[in-house]
Amino acid sequence: MDNPQDEPTHDQHNSRDNEMSNDMNNDMNKGMKKGLTSYGDQGFSLFLRKAFIKGAGYTDAALDRPVVGIANTGSAYNPCHGNAPQLIEAVKRGVMLAGGLPMEFPTISIHESFAAPTSMYLRNLMSMDTEEMVRAQPMDAVVLIGGCDKTVPAQLMGAASAGIPSIQLITGSMLTGSHRGERVGACTDCRRYWGKFRANEIDEAEVAEVNDQLVASVGTCSVMGTASTMACIAEALGMTVPGGASPPAVTADRIRIAEQTGAQAVQMAHAGLTIDKILTPAAFENAMRVLLAIGGSTNGIVHLTAIAGRMGLEIDLAALDRMGRETPVLLDLKPSGQHYMEDFHHAGGMATLLRELKPLLRLDAMTVTGRTLGEELERQGPGFRQDVVRPMANPIYPQGGIAVLRGNLAPGGAIIKQSAADARLMEHVGRAVVFENLEDLANRIDSDALDVTGEDVLVLKNIGPKGAPGMPEAGYIPIPRKLARAGVKDIVRISDGRMSGTAFGTIVLHVTPESAIGGPLAHVQNGDQIRLSVKNREIALLVSDEELARRAAASPVTVPTAERGYRKLFLQTVTQADQGVDFDFLRAAKMVGKVPE
Ligand code: FES
Repeated sequence: MDNPQDEPTHDQHNSRDNEMSNDMNNDMNKGMKKGLTSYGDQGFSLFLRKAFIKGAGYTDAALDRPVVGIANTGSAYNPCHGNAPQLIEAVKRGVMLAGGLPMEFPTISIHESFAAPTSMYLRNLMSMDTEEMVRAQPMDAVVLIGGCDKTVPAQLMGAASAGIPSIQLITGSMLTGSHRGERVGACTDCRRYWGKFRANEIDEAEVAEVNDQLVASVGTCSVMGTASTMACIAEALGMTVPGGASPPAVTADRIRIAEQTGAQAVQMAHAGLTIDKILTPAAFENAMRVLLAIGGSTNGIVHLTAIAGRMGLEIDLAALDRMGRETPVLLDLKPSGQHYMEDFHHAGGMATLLRELKPLLRLDAMTVTGRTLGEELERQGPGFRQDVVRPMANPIYPQGGIAVLRGNLAPGGAIIKQSAADARLMEHVGRAVVFENLEDLANRIDSDALDVTGEDVLVLKNIGPKGAPGMPEAGYIPIPRKLARAGVKDIVRISDGRMSGTAFGTIVLHVTPESAIGGPLAHVQNGDQIRLSVKNREIALLVSDEELARRAAASPVTVPTAERGYRKLFLQTVTQADQGVDFDFLRAAKMVGKVPE
């Protein structure tokens, strides 16, 4: 101060200190005052924080508003999130219209095709990033912008652990393209056309031509793959605004959803609608129903298990199987059916499906709007004629899309997406043709010397959580080239890995415990007989316990380890599929219940 007369008196000092301390005591857990950096002097911490944020041109009036964080997962490596800039602009508009202050921040972004060795290896890292940045930075609510397969689960896992009011904004599906007059979309058609190419049905020029058409715009895969599954699950959990799952990425509807999401986040902050009030057993039960009724991706089970685990809830796989027997597949989307996500949106989206499923739902589950799922359904009004969501009386598949298998080959369980499998192979005994790991598979699957017939069972080891590592989506073992050329379209396949939700076939996945830690799968040998009975929910290796024990003693497995870094953390702490492949230290400290209750 240049003029000593301007210096504050002792009393003025005291009154400013008091003001600051009142300011501090009022709402210390809100807005910009939340979670102050530790300098040993809280007043100074707030003073410094405000000084820095004012460097970005904010006024005190702006800084006094409720703060809504916006997790920005835009990345040049993630075209599924290519509309992130437009969504963020709309979320900010919604936040400001509702009287809040939007604060965008970056987190990790993961795209399926740009993550080695596999996106699943990074899901837990993204969940840690999300949790810790939501905790560390001052925000009263958070909008989570996600879409590509692992991003929505990672964000919900992180937000569940962080515990503040949270709302999911889905990026939305891509548009479909057209190849020589045929409608195509990622990624069921990617696999179909690649299969045609492998079988010499189309040439290199045509496969290059279709490559231009499979992804017709930014956005997530346009079939009922994992991204669409998780979008529907997020809405079923009550974590999006109503109608938040289905609008395609490039539509005005998607932008409007983003604006509503921003506004709703401010209401949630005011109401203290924390995520634990939404992610209840009732919400998870609804999500399980929806997973079954949409013919959703098998990955949905792993992710739901992981999200529930953060809340101290255990997904009961036996109950999921029971629920499957009474929950038909109603949604006619590829790969189980015919349509694409944009058709589902035109058919009314999740409201149409939930209306049909109403008798099976927990209508008392709370949603981000502060209203229950039942209240939201009432507000949606009656449905209209459409052909994408079938009525209960005329489903596209009579039972839920996913069956849970058990047997001596998978004491901890395995799953099969029966709605995407060949009915002819669902009761089958065949000879094992074993591949020890991905490298062995790549070296031999297309060899003319491979001893294999269409009646055999392909077994792939070492693609579980620790095996690959990261439980890659390699469970969709390609049909051996010589069988593909002979016209074989499906064959029984078994592994401890996962499969893309966009894939089709009689494929047993998530065999638990995995082979890399010495599960029975590790000891399957060429020529063993394997029995698959979907009717009896059984996957059995027709080898005696004594013989299996002898093999285990003769060739014990070496569990994978790493010297340093994230890989070391991953291999030391990752759990099996039945615990969601989460890190053990990230799950809730105490399990408090089961779903369904
Ligand atoms: Fe992102 Fe399919 S690759 S959703």
